[in-house]
Amino acid sequence: AKQIITVIPGDGIGPDIINATIKVLDKAGCNFEYEYADAGLVALEKHGELVPEETLALIKKNKIALKGPLTTPVGEGFTSINVTLRKQFQLYANVRPVLSFKGTKARYDNIDIITIRENTEGMYSGLGQTLSEDGMKAEAMSLVTREGAERIVTFAYETARKEGRKKVTAVHKANILKSTSGLFLKVAREVAQRYPDIESTEMIVDNCCMQLVMNPEQFDMIVTTNLFGDILSDLCAGLVGGLGMAPGANIGEDCAIFEAVHGSAPDIAGKNLANPTSVILAAIQMLEYLEMGDKAENIRRAITDVIESGDRTTRDLGGSHGTTDFTDAVLERL
Ligand code: NAI
Ligand code: MG
Repeated sequence: AKQIITVIPGDGIGPDIINATIKVLDKAGCNFEYEYADAGLVALEKHGELVPEETLALIKKNKIALKGPLTTPVGEGFTSINVTLRKQFQLYANVRPVLSFKGTKARYDNIDIITIRENTEGMYSGLGQTLSEDGMKAEAMSLVTREGAERIVTFAYETARKEGRKKVTAVHKANILKSTSGLFLKVAREVAQRYPDIESTEMIVDNCCMQLVMNPEQFDMIVTTNLFGDILSDLCAGLVGGLGMAPGANIGEDCAIFEAVHGSAPDIAGKNLANPTSVILAAIQMLEYLEMGDKAENIRRAITDVIESGDRTTRDLGGSHGTTDFTDAVLERL
């Protein structure tokens, strides 16, 4: 039977970069069947809900989804859709690789870092969010459980082994956030003991930001809690040419959602300016997850050649072309 993928085009630049990616998957001969679902503002307009039941049911049924960015309206009592999806399907691991391509405007050309972000707890637990009636005091609860910390750190080391990585850096703020970050670090140290074949280091998050900017070559894999992972992965994207270059996989026990790290980019939406590389790289992660490594490799080779030769690249990469020209350049190489 054909593998069925749930496709959520999403908001803003989402539909353009998702369509580009589907073309690439088809041209590479992946032979998937796609079932489309709405989420985000587009779903709110059509169905009166940010994440309709049908969308949740499709994700559950097909177990694999390729998703565009979703706009969460700010300050209107909506909880983030992404947080909802990650919690609902227990997608506890967010795998965010960044890899340099030569010949772009990026600051570095030798970066190869995977950030493993805990995706269901931490500062994004959604628990205990209150705002006092007089608007003078706001609270939110950060949650770290031993189980959650152990699960994500173990996932990081297992990924390191599978991908032949040499070093895992646990990033924390245990000196100040003694309970939450403290527990995360304690568990990270325990898990590290079980992987003597992999070098384990730890770093405080603020220093880590500075180190990533000054001397990013020292990093191989980073494992960290939700909020730090969110911020560090955008920082890492900045090292390799920006958010247009950064994919992410949300992985749980029996379901996975692949997407870009970035959002709906309202500033460039509808202008054919978005770089689809982020979602194409997410699709490569999806192919690897589905053990279709040969297809993944073919697409990676095509997109690398387009970017490194500068043939029809988008503006964020220093080129002067749009989403569709860039995509055509990739398709021609497949
Ligand atoms: P953003 O990530 O959408 O954009 C930040 C900057 O990066 C913008 O200048 C944008 O033009 C640029 N950019 C992003 N993707 C690009 C691409 N593929 N090619 C070229 N340039 C690209 O962040 P922003 O503006 O803070 O958020 C916009 C909306 O996206 C918000 O509603 C936010 O909630 C949502 N969002 C959704 C996410 C998701 O669905 N996974 C993740 C992050 C934000
Ligand atoms: Mg983010």
